[in-house]
Amino acid sequence: MKDILSELEDRRKDARLGGGQKRIDSQHARGKLTARERIELLLDEGSFEEFDTFVAHRCTDFGMEKQRPAGDGVVTGWGTINGRMVYLFSQDFTVFGGSLSETHAQKICKIMDMAMQNGAPVIGINDSGGARIQEGVASLAGYAEVFQRNIMASGVVPQISVIMGPCAGGAVYSPAMTDFIFMVKDTSYMFVTGPDVVKTVTNEVVTAEELGGATTHTRKSSVADGAFENDVEAMAEVRRLVDFLPLNNRDKAPVRPFFDEPGRVEMSLDTLIPDNANKPYDMKELILKIADESDFYEIQEDFAKNIITGFIRLEGRTVGVVANQPMVLAGCLDIDSSRKAARFVRFCDAFEIPILTFVDVPGFLPGTGQEYGGVIKHGAKLLFAYGEATVPKVTVITRKAYGGAYDVMASKHLRGDFNYAWPTAEIAVMGAKGATEIIHRADLGDPDKIAAHTRDYEDRFANPFVAAEKGFVDEVIMPHSTRMRVSRAFASLRNKSLQNPWKKHDNIPL
Ligand code: HXC
Repeated sequence: MKDILSELEDRRKDARLGGGQKRIDSQHARGKLTARERIELLLDEGSFEEFDTFVAHRCTDFGMEKQRPAGDGVVTGWGTINGRMVYLFSQDFTVFGGSLSETHAQKICKIMDMAMQNGAPVIGINDSGGARIQEGVASLAGYAEVFQRNIMASGVVPQISVIMGPCAGGAVYSPAMTDFIFMVKDTSYMFVTGPDVVKTVTNEVVTAEELGGATTHTRKSSVADGAFENDVEAMAEVRRLVDFLPLNNRDKAPVRPFFDEPGRVEMSLDTLIPDNANKPYDMKELILKIADESDFYEIQEDFAKNIITGFIRLEGRTVGVVANQPMVLAGCLDIDSSRKAARFVRFCDAFEIPILTFVDVPGFLPGTGQEYGGVIKHGAKLLFAYGEATVPKVTVITRKAYGGAYDVMASKHLRGDFNYAWPTAEIAVMGAKGATEIIHRADLGDPDKIAAHTRDYEDRFANPFVAAEKGFVDEVIMPHSTRMRVSRAFASLRNKSLQNPWKKHDNIPL
């Protein structure tokens, strides 16, 4: 009996070594942690329960039968983050470069199936050379099995991908179908075809970092939602994100203890809006001032900065925030910001996270670049996302709400539950100058007349009261009381029940 017990211990020890000490050292030398070290940082201490420790590949080509390391290049199982269950897989680059074999894929599929069945998020830590070359099509089949599960799990349990090494070829499409992708600066990259193929086909010379590093994907492509300095920070930030999320689509986000008065008055907000309507101000200041303990988890911070998306808590409950940022492109909506915000709104709606929208938008960005790029379709994504969302929706117009963008930004007409405006709000078809130049075209040669018409238009429309008279704005509120008003609004909506008509699925303009 004792021998059997010690054999198990020996086998476990062996499995924990993955591809061996030399390769572990080389992983460390690159500034990367091992698959197991990452898990230790991600999960609550001692909470990890491993599955399939001893699974080995079945390949007999290329002499592979002589090397059958336990675990086959991926560590899988479940554990807890601040006491709440998550399933995870962590690819082990020290074993065949973390490449995905048939059995490696089966291990991932097993925990994904369990996560779906038991209603808990899936966190995938990616560090892999892609398809196990020795296994050929069996490995491709394995990827497809994972893809299919990513699709089925979408909107059922949150899926988070952390890219902590290579992720190339078709392998990128699994993270791409998850809800959030995070990368580690300098040690991770993602691309469909690598620098060598790019050079052969297009003659472009580009490094792996330039082609698919964290900077590229958080600033240019928007494939990634955030980038972290190193493995340790990445794991800590994923823990922070998980704390904001429900475990599944039938669960509510956790209610955390809060140490911030819901009725807290912020007098400084009364002077947030500059006297000059064309002067920018930082919308993040408003978000931080109304959030519990000023805690804001921003998503896609470095992309389409003219819109801000992320999670806060109000009275300890998660709220998704979408806000125009007047500091960038005057807060205009454009292709990138519409796509970014639409995806965020849809995530919130899928997981029953209420949405708070702060509006200061002068309209859609004009130009051939936008029109040729399909701003009509991309802008419609955000409109569609807000309109189909059935979660509690509270909107505060701080300043401009012009034209189609007024409608899009969670207006009353898109089933907004509480639509507030600050006294500084200007809700109109367009800005006074543009409007005057159209409706008083005959007076264009007379600057005095135009100035008078402009003033007249401003007096009549550059305020929240026309909309308030029609009930499109439920109430004009004092900026300093925003946290209290918004908290109370969400509290009143906790039992909101709204259903869309039955359909197989909608046809959002993709
Ligand atoms: C089997 C692999 C492997 C793979 C790496 N290794 N990738 N084994 N299949 N795909 C092994 C190496 O042989 C090596 O083994 C160890 O992992 C570490 O690899 P190195 O090359 O020494 O590491 P490094 O220099 O850091 O380079 C990492 C790498 C490179 C950039 C990932 O290994 C590489 O280019 N690998 C091939 C990538 C690839 O073409 N994959 C297929 C992509 S297509 P030893 O024993 O020496 O330690 C694909 C399709 C998916 O994935 C389609 C889904 C639909």
